[in-house]
Amino acid sequence: MDREQAKERIRELTRQINQHNYNYYVLSRPVIEDYDFDMLLEELITLEKQFPEYALPDSPTQRVGGDLTKEFRQIFHKYPMLSLGNTYSIEEVKDFESRIHKLLGESTEYVCELKFDGVAIGLTYQNGKLVQAVTRGDGLKGDDVYTNVKTIRSIPLQLTGNNIPEEFEIRGEIIMPIKSFEQLNRFREEEGEETFANPRNAAAGSIKLQNSSEVVKRHLDCYLYYIPTPGLPFETHYESLMAARSWGFKISSHMVRCRNIGEIFEFIDNIGTIRPDLPFNIDGVVIKVNSFRQQEELGYTAKSPRWAIAYKFKAERASTLLLSIDYQIGRTGTVTPVANLKPVPLAGTIVKRATLHNADIIASLDVRIGDSVFVEKGGEIIPKIVSVDLEKRPVDAKKVDFISKCPECGTPLIRREGEAAYYCPNESGCPPQIKGKLEHFISRRAMNIESLGEGKIEMLYDQGLVSNIADLYDLTYEQLFGLKKIFPEEKSKKEKTISFRKKTVENILKGIDASRNTPFERVLYAIGIRYVGETVAKKLAEHFSGIDALMAASKEELITVEEIGEKIAQSVVCYYSKPENREIIERLRNKGICFESKREEKIKVSNRLNEKIFVVSGVFEGYSRDEVRKMIEDHGGRNATSVSSKTSYVLAGENMGPEKKKKAESLGVPIISLDEFLAMIK
Ligand code: IVH
Repeated sequence: MDREQAKERIRELTRQINQHNYNYYVLSRPVIEDYDFDMLLEELITLEKQFPEYALPDSPTQRVGGDLTKEFRQIFHKYPMLSLGNTYSIEEVKDFESRIHKLLGESTEYVCELKFDGVAIGLTYQNGKLVQAVTRGDGLKGDDVYTNVKTIRSIPLQLTGNNIPEEFEIRGEIIMPIKSFEQLNRFREEEGEETFANPRNAAAGSIKLQNSSEVVKRHLDCYLYYIPTPGLPFETHYESLMAARSWGFKISSHMVRCRNIGEIFEFIDNIGTIRPDLPFNIDGVVIKVNSFRQQEELGYTAKSPRWAIAYKFKAERASTLLLSIDYQIGRTGTVTPVANLKPVPLAGTIVKRATLHNADIIASLDVRIGDSVFVEKGGEIIPKIVSVDLEKRPVDAKKVDFISKCPECGTPLIRREGEAAYYCPNESGCPPQIKGKLEHFISRRAMNIESLGEGKIEMLYDQGLVSNIADLYDLTYEQLFGLKKIFPEEKSKKEKTISFRKKTVENILKGIDASRNTPFERVLYAIGIRYVGETVAKKLAEHFSGIDALMAASKEELITVEEIGEKIAQSVVCYYSKPENREIIERLRNKGICFESKREEKIKVSNRLNEKIFVVSGVFEGYSRDEVRKMIEDHGGRNATSVSSKTSYVLAGENMGPEKKKKAESLGVPIISLDEFLAMIK
């Protein structure tokens, strides 16, 4: 392809991909298969690498994120980011409407919108191009989060359409859809990281991540709701948002013009009804005067505009009795106290149980059995006990003695320093832990044995056929054929039985057999070491040649692996120190499970760095950090993320982390510059 053709193709691909992104992320109406989309994107990435001079400013390849942001620069808002007066009372919405009517003395149109529960953002466009993105901050100045915002697919990098102002700002809310939030928390739990309390916190945390390529993975979204720039050719707020929609912004379709208080109430009612079905959280509705002229006339108080008000939905709350507390044991032995409540209707469902999280929460609520408690469904998904109605406390309310032994197997519980949860250490003998481990092992992202499922695992365990993951590979046709499960059917007082037939048994055995092809990194995830989630398993499999090398690694050596910290390293060492775990690994290995990394031997340029361990910190002129790390490996060295006594050198760029510097100095680890490093490998 010659230069002219490349230039033209890059232009065409950019246009096409941006259109597909818009269809997918703004309109939610994709017209192309994911695979075909990926092909287009890949072609563009390749061409831009070859002809970087032709990459366009609005190229979709900018959305994949880049390197680290050390610190977020503060930027003053051109127009202060005010808040809205808000109320929980319908009466006050009425007062708002009559006040406005009195002040203006003429009929007024309102626009009613959703009140998004996320993070406010101001986006500035110049000549249709996104040039700035600033968080609310203290209202006068906020953080420059441009690099991260660019990764949000529903935010246009380049506007299209007619009459786009030369320069303007548009404001809206960055949100995390509930599905993404749940997925993120599941993932964090597996990795032993703290979970986010609600989607708003998750969105706020995500937009301030230092690595924009991590932001991409958070699946953020953005709705726009206000253009603060004066002097644009619009007479009404509604009109301005319609124009914004035509330029490519995501504007909610839950937005209506209302002529009177009746219509406003109707909107509020309607949104209250559909709220549980929205894919993201809202905490109310916003009512705005539509006409810009009238807005100007009404003006502002010190904090908020007089022309708008937020009506917030009360977090629905119910009062009920705490009957008892159950203690659930998870796959890794963590104990979660769960409150059994007298059933009470709340926000469309009947609530019978609520989580009490851990012993600290129980203590801080001072909740007792028999208490009247308030349960709330707020931004969180699971109902929680928010307080105790002390006035109603019965004299015989019983203090909660957090259990000291596992309710399932009787083993004394332990609590690790710095952790809120208790757990049962009897990994290989505690029934819910055994079943949990088996279920995890066969799950889709682990060994993917589809022909088994929770129900079947339970049967196999209950009938004594399997009590650990290696036992699965000893199952025979004879053992399984005719195996029965009995379901007592309460109503009919009859029993329902299912028994495994030929086809079922063959499928189960076929599924187990096929799992022998699972690659090492997934096997490592499947065996269920505490804190070793998918990402960590992958990093370990990349670093070690196989299970033998991994089992031989010391805690210090594990810490030198990227993303492996103290807690994970400790857990891995602890797992392999137990003879019963080693035995399971041996048995699995004998059954043909893959315990070797299929990593390609890295082709080295030289061996000058001969296994020296480097920690790279800061930014480098002319090289990205990844490029520097690659050079280290190319010359036989290794990379680690934290400084320890094993570190050979800290390779410091500009603005290296002060903690790393302190640590290196205190341990006497040499700190070298990029030039010194380049000289080493020359
Ligand atoms: S308009 C001058 N519209 O609520 C008024 N704000 O307490 C500018 N919010 O900071 C804001 N949904 O973060 C507006 N449809 C909506 C909104 C909305 C959520 C947030 C926004 C604002 C806060 C005000």
